[in-house]
Amino acid sequence: MALNQRVISFYNKRIWIIGASSGIGEACAQAFLSHGAKVALSARRIDKLKAIQDKWPTDQTLCLPANAQNNDELSTAYQSIKQTWGGIDLLLYVSGIYEPMRADNFDLAKATDIINTNIIGAMSACSITLPDFIQQQSGGIAIVSSVAGYSGLPQSLAYGPSKAAMINFCETLYYDLKPKNVAVYMINPGFVSTEATAKNDFEMPALITTEQAATEILDGIQAGEFDIHFPKRFSYFLKFLRLLPYPVYFFLIKKFIKI
Ligand SMILES: NC(=O)c1ccc[n+]([C@@H]2O[C@H](COP(=O)([O-])OP(=O)(O)OC[C@H]3O[C@@H](n4cnc5c(N)ncnc54)[C@H](OP(=O)(O)O)[C@@H]3O)[C@@H](O)[C@H]2O)c1
Repeated sequence: MALNQRVISFYNKRIWIIGASSGIGEACAQAFLSHGAKVALSARRIDKLKAIQDKWPTDQTLCLPANAQNNDELSTAYQSIKQTWGGIDLLLYVSGIYEPMRADNFDLAKATDIINTNIIGAMSACSITLPDFIQQQSGGIAIVSSVAGYSGLPQSLAYGPSKAAMINFCETLYYDLKPKNVAVYMINPGFVSTEATAKNDFEMPALITTEQAATEILDGIQAGEFDIHFPKRFSYFLKFLRLLPYPVYFFLIKKFIKI
């Protein structure tokens, strides 16, 4: 059952994507642009953002480099969007750091970096945009978390907790924004082939392309889904596993994920 209103069309919708420079964020940017949306592109790598921008009419994109760990840079980017387009209809927070980590190589500096981008960056973007969303009583906030946030998975010692936090954040945000007519989209991908997952040294089950991920995300938003998870053959499996008693859960994860 859809918990948000359906989106009839993305045409002319003003979308701010943070983490648009590569992978899932870039694919979403291209997909929204091909539907006629206006997309403000943010991330740190300007060259990558400009390369996306160059492919589209000048009035359809804004290139607003920002480090998601820097609240002032995000605020400045958002003010530029407001000055140019008057506001946004959708915030899509995709920025994230994935770093495989186990107990025998636990690195607090890396863990802090992961938390600051995956959690604090998303919260920062929300804190900047929420007052306007609540005032305009329309639009939506979409956050890319991960199925790794459902329950503990091997090698996800810092990444997993960061994504679990964002799942909880989306669930909690939903209570407050539903009465204000502001949609919340909690996006939990399985394995997607990107720069981030290229560092995995194991066979990734149900691996999909960034284009497939973008299609799932746009379709889910259009259908008004709160819980956008994919690919279903993998995400439903993990949803089922987390319902099991821990001895069975740990046994099956070890058997099927083979890490
Ligand atoms: N690939 C998967 O299998 C998978 C599965 C589940 C969830 N996810 C999530 O999907 C999201 C995108 O990941 P991806 O797989 O597409 O990897 P990716 O290609 O490495 O993309 C990561 C994006 O995050 C941005 N980013 C990282 N640190 C940033 C910072 N400090 N400030 C601003 N932007 C920052 C990067 O841009 P710059 O480096 O230019 O700043 C880039 O645009 C992440 O949140 C990831 O956790 C991925």
